[in-house]
Amino acid sequence: MNQPTLDVLNARRSVPSRQLGEPAPDDATLRRLIEAAIRVPDHGKLEPFRIRILRGDAKHAFGKALASMALEANPDLSDAKRDKEQRRYEYAPLVLVVSAKVDPDSKVPELEQNLTAGCVAYNLLLGAQALGYGAQWLTGWAAYDRDVARLLGMKKHEHVVGFIHVGTPAMEAPERERPSYDDIVAPWQP
Ligand SMILES: Cc1cc2nc3c(=O)[nH]c(=O)nc-3n(C[C@H](O)[C@H](O)[C@H](O)COP(=O)(O)O)c2cc1C
Repeated sequence: MNQPTLDVLNARRSVPSRQLGEPAPDDATLRRLIEAAIRVPDHGKLEPFRIRILRGDAKHAFGKALASMALEANPDLSDAKRDKEQRRYEYAPLVLVVSAKVDPDSKVPELEQNLTAGCVAYNLLLGAQALGYGAQWLTGWAAYDRDVARLLGMKKHEHVVGFIHVGTPAMEAPERERPSYDDIVAPWQP
């Protein structure tokens, strides 16, 4: 039986952002990718997610701003960590910032709204790979920092769910051991 969707899931793996280079999807391809990725399950149809596109100068400016903020918060940062901060946004040519924009007054629990935004991030990983690109979902301190959220234009009830780094893999992505069915799955019995 032909099961292309399962083939995609079975082949899914992240490509470390350090291994992602040019080219990234062009604007038309990116639009197709995002239009597919936002077809997520969404309790209450709240659309509790947003995506900001970082490329080129804007991406570099964002990376530089984050490095300055990290240094400001910790002037004793080691050289290695300082270097890492500087480079984080230099590798992949495209970064998609997926956020959850939750409605705290909705009867839909905030957890469910966050899960919906998470589905968008995951769809972007799958879709990017299906198009022949590589991608990695990263967070780090910046995803939880309100100054960074403000820099991205987010207000009180919006926060970063993930930075999805996208590009062309420079090498075949490493595989890792995957969860085993028997460890994860069990019949429930009353
Ligand atoms: C919400 C979320 C945040 C993550 N943040 C990071 C991160 O900041 N740094 C990192 O090295 N991996 C992070 N990861 C893990 C990688 O995206 C990736 O899943 C991991 O390297 C395993 O590779 P795989 O996707 O092929 O299983 C995160 C994953 C998720 C779901």
